[in-house]
Amino acid sequence: MSVEISGAVALVTGANRGIGRALVEALLAKGADKVYAGARDPAKLAGLVQQYGPRLVALELDITDPKQISAAAAAAPDVDLLINNAGVAGEAGVAATEGQNLVVGRREFEVNVFGTLALRRFQKNKHSASSRRGFHVDKPLG
Ligand SMILES: NC(=O)c1ccc[n+]([C@@H]2O[C@H](COP(=O)([O-])OP(=O)(O)OC[C@H]3O[C@@H](n4cnc5c(N)ncnc54)[C@H](OP(=O)(O)O)[C@@H]3O)[C@@H](O)[C@H]2O)c1
Repeated sequence: MSVEISGAVALVTGANRGIGRALVEALLAKGADKVYAGARDPAKLAGLVQQYGPRLVALELDITDPKQISAAAAAAPDVDLLINNAGVAGEAGVAATEGQNLVVGRREFEVNVFGTLALRRFQKNKHSASSRRGFHVDKPLG
């Protein structure tokens, strides 16, 4: 299945660096109408905002914070392509069972699993099931 980027309104989480930032830039280069860029610290999106102007909308969005998720959903009602990129990786993994590893492991689950699932609320959209929009992409869980 291909996804239509041209004219899409996308939301990318963890957009301030790494793969998330690269995805924001690729979406805009491929003709997305608008990209909401989510970051825990929106000040880190200043360069993207300056570069892309009104096609880039910065959102404060920690995907483990229900209040910020609700505020983002209200601020971005027109999302039809969700890229669930934000995550933490490689610190403990599913083998974490005790001590500090368990603390870090819980954090990974909070962000990578529950945070990612919480963003599914952005899936509701105005497009039909057969549309090549109305789509979401989740990060690989490494
Ligand atoms: N690169 C790989 O080889 C690889 C392999 C498997 C899976 N992945 C997954 O693919 C995604 C992107 O990888 P990457 O290499 O670009 O990772 P990265 O450079 O570590 O960037 C992770 C991004 O997620 C954000 N983030 C972390 N916790 C968050 C939270 N609670 N709420 C919102 N944003 C949060 C970070 O924000 P801050 O700057 O505020 O920390 C950062 O923007 C990640 O989910 C990663 O786990 C990557």
